[in-house]
Amino acid sequence: MPRPAAGEIAHSNRLVEFLIAEIEQHGGIISFRDYMQFVMYQPGLGYYSAGLSKFGAGGDFVTAPEISALFGSTLARQCELIFEQGAARNILEFGAGSGRLCQQILTRLNQSCTYSIIELSADLRLRQQEYLQSCLPGEVFQRVRWLDQLPVEFSGVVLGNEVLDAMPVHLVSKDQQWFELGVVFDGTRFNWCRLTDDSEAVSAISHIEATRGLLPAGYTTEVNLNFRPWLNALRECCEQAVILMIDYGYEQADYYRPERCSGTLICHYHHRSHADPLVYPGLQDISASVDFDAFADAAIDCDFEICGYTTQGQFLLAGGLLEEAERPLADKDTKSRLGFSQQIKTLTMPTEMCERFKVIGIHRNLDIDIPALTAGR
Ligand SMILES: C[S@@+](CC[C@H](N)C(=O)[O-])C[C@H]1O[C@@H](n2cnc3c(N)ncnc32)[C@H](O)[C@@H]1O
Repeated sequence: MPRPAAGEIAHSNRLVEFLIAEIEQHGGIISFRDYMQFVMYQPGLGYYSAGLSKFGAGGDFVTAPEISALFGSTLARQCELIFEQGAARNILEFGAGSGRLCQQILTRLNQSCTYSIIELSADLRLRQQEYLQSCLPGEVFQRVRWLDQLPVEFSGVVLGNEVLDAMPVHLVSKDQQWFELGVVFDGTRFNWCRLTDDSEAVSAISHIEATRGLLPAGYTTEVNLNFRPWLNALRECCEQAVILMIDYGYEQADYYRPERCSGTLICHYHHRSHADPLVYPGLQDISASVDFDAFADAAIDCDFEICGYTTQGQFLLAGGLLEEAERPLADKDTKSRLGFSQQIKTLTMPTEMCERFKVIGIHRNLDIDIPALTAGR
């Protein structure tokens, strides 16, 4: 792993002091879920909330909109398809990262559309504003707005790329029985500790085990309990909406396989991946794969209907990715055209993002057909 620079270490030390105080205040232990919430989102200190570069070659990881503008233009095609079937021309994006997906979509749409962004990080919001102002025509930029919370009413398309994986998860482990993992500070560094045998996360994993099959002692995994409250809040504001979430993850039978005995939690620091979320607090990304069955169950419980679910590769290919690459656009020079074939490969080949990344679409009060979402199924 590369060594953090002096400024990074100083930043991380400020977060460490904050975490030690939080742990003391909570009787010497906090849940891993709270630890992850703090190290990722604590205002001014957390990974997403402080001024470090995260996305692209100079950051820690690369997401699909950073790989290719074709990702956003293909999604824009799907938005047009949804608008043609009666959805209002509004887009709401969660966690807009560098702002590239917004730029790609707004540049490709056939007609005007409002674009709202909900971004937890004040720092990222500023970066998005600067970036979008610099690259969108003034009248298009005017239609982008940043919201502090969900609107009271919304109709249109809701999008999120790699947002669900960034939500804080509970960690659970099994010996004779399931227990939830907490984090302590041992005077030198953060360490693992047994938190409780009786929590919502323990009930959730026990239920998964009862329906999917016995998991071995020593098994450690994650449970994401954010889907229901998040979808419930969306249900409250969405009159007529389609929600498209793109992320890496698995169906439950694959997620909670007995062999996947260390779970899916992964950390990224300067393009190196490893499995220890307790080091480099605030300097590294932490994420967990999405349990798409849990997301779909939560959606149905919250009165959404499922439009479809497929791999990112199938979705993009059936959704017009190759046609987008062929479009004669002014901003495509020879160099970017040459890059397209490698970008298409990265976005769609089974060995790259295709199989790990999935797209799930759900809707509310709209009778909509999105063929790309059922491609390959
Ligand atoms: C891995 S980054 C992805 C950024 C961007 N969508 C992309 O594809 O490059 C995760 C993003 O999700 C945001 N995020 C996580 N939970 C969120 C929530 N509940 N509401 C809004 N944004 C959230 C983070 O702040 C961050 O911007």
